[in-house]
Amino acid sequence: MEDQATVVFTGLAILVVSYILRWRMDPLNSIPTLGGSSLPGLSYFAALNFMRNAKDIIDEGYIRFYNRTYKVAMPDKWLVIASGPKMIDELRRRPDEDVSFLAGVEETIQAKYTLGEDAFADPYHVDIIKEKLTRTLPAVLPEVVDELRLAVQEYIPAKDEGEWVKVTVMPTMQHIVARASNRAFVGLPLCRNEGFLELAIMFTRAVVKDRNVMARVPRLLKPLVGFFVSQAKTSIRRAAQYLKPLVDEKTALMEQAGDDWEDKPNDMLQWIFDEAIHRKDPLWSVAERVLLVNFAAIHTSSTSFTHVIFDLAARPEHLQPLRDEIEPIIASDGWTKAAMGKMWKLDSVLRESQRWNGINLTSLIRKAMRDITLNDGTFIPKGTIIVTAQHPTHRDETNYPDANVFDGFRFARMREQEGEGTKHQFVNTSIEYVPFGHGKHACPGRFFAANELKAMLAYIVLNYDFKLEDGVRPPNVYTGFTILPPMDKQVMFRKRELSKSA
Ligand SMILES: *[C@@H]1O[C@H](CO)[C@@H](O)[C@H](O)[C@H]1NC(C)=O
Ligand SMILES: *[C@@H]1O[C@H](CO)[C@@H](O)[C@H](O)[C@H]1NC(C)=O
Ligand SMILES: *[C@@H]1O[C@H](CO)[C@@H](O)[C@H](O)[C@H]1NC(C)=O
Repeated sequence: MEDQATVVFTGLAILVVSYILRWRMDPLNSIPTLGGSSLPGLSYFAALNFMRNAKDIIDEGYIRFYNRTYKVAMPDKWLVIASGPKMIDELRRRPDEDVSFLAGVEETIQAKYTLGEDAFADPYHVDIIKEKLTRTLPAVLPEVVDELRLAVQEYIPAKDEGEWVKVTVMPTMQHIVARASNRAFVGLPLCRNEGFLELAIMFTRAVVKDRNVMARVPRLLKPLVGFFVSQAKTSIRRAAQYLKPLVDEKTALMEQAGDDWEDKPNDMLQWIFDEAIHRKDPLWSVAERVLLVNFAAIHTSSTSFTHVIFDLAARPEHLQPLRDEIEPIIASDGWTKAAMGKMWKLDSVLRESQRWNGINLTSLIRKAMRDITLNDGTFIPKGTIIVTAQHPTHRDETNYPDANVFDGFRFARMREQEGEGTKHQFVNTSIEYVPFGHGKHACPGRFFAANELKAMLAYIVLNYDFKLEDGVRPPNVYTGFTILPPMDKQVMFRKRELSKSA
């Protein structure tokens, strides 16, 4: 008996000692920890604490480790947070061989297990957004406007003139954004199919749910669990059913007429199809990419739009100057990309709302592809995820005078200064402005998104009055990194009488 106890005891002791040794030798140990202890076992509580108090921890880290790095605990790993302009510039400049944006995203959503690696190994849909979608914007935008005009009328049902209706902002904006965006992604009539739109909206939630499951599963079990539980894969299979008739038709037309045929559509689905055919990719892969594009577009744009509606409803003094700007431009230029480019106040309000709220406390996610040393001397071992602080950057007085005041037209005024015409427009990123990231991997969809959001806001501001029921803007919700607008709160809308121009 005694011998057995000794064996068990010795075994346990060896286990504990080797665990501690491994922990002591972890190079991440030299990076300071915020939000709890980095001792083995205790880091679990640090991860719980971070999930609840990420905003305070990241704000504190910004002050204590300005232009430097610290780490916070995730359920399954450490995350290095780099703060300040010097670090944003550092990550922006690092070549892909050092730090990879796509590998960072792939790892956060655990795509390897829940989606498969193809779309990340060969991300041609990203190039399509970067090049084709942005280049065809002048032609695409009027279609998008046509769709959002119908969608707004449908989802913000105005009763008799003068009567207010209550609208739950977030789900309403999700549907309007999904429909308007899919006019450019999959075209008519699928962009009006409620089942497909619901799927496109829910795909984001499926990916996030899968990710949350995966973060809690030990590495060895991940492939197995991913195979059985992925909700994202279920969504892709269902999307493939919606796309099948369209893809079959395209295949038949191509067999008859080659690469080009009469009335060949000029939308995202067609571009993805063209690439997939060259690569001999299956329908599943086309569906996956259509959903990934929706994943990138819907949640981000509808969240941003919900924020700006609450922001303006709480500060109605912005509405008249916006109408004074929009009306003459629409009268002379119509609902075109050129018109959107002239609306500086409108652009400024959207940019300020993103600065003020944001959709993520962090930005510029990267994964170290080899051991690297950052410019502050921090050693980052291969495989580590690094992000930069976004929220405190946007509230830093050295970056923005009166940073803690919402000033809707601040960027329009800045643009009026000599030589500053484009620097402060919504789509322009900098070390002080990172909602779209910064540098080579800045969000390639931001030109499409900015134009869509501007058209949507211009249309609503021209055609509706809106206000908060009790005048107080309901607060944002912070969970983990994510910043959400009030998800189930309402705004009152009323159709305006004088909408000659719309
Ligand atoms: C932080 O970095 C920026 C950009 O490199 C630099 O201008 C600034 O002086 C640095 N501030 C501190 C306190 O280190
Ligand atoms: C926010 O950033 C974190 C870390 O950078 C990332 O894991 C998360 O997926 C991001 N969330 C959204 C909604 O983009
Ligand atoms: C952002 O502003 C700078 C300075 O005006 C300019 O050089 C750059 O091209 C702009 N980038 C974009 C994407 O507008």
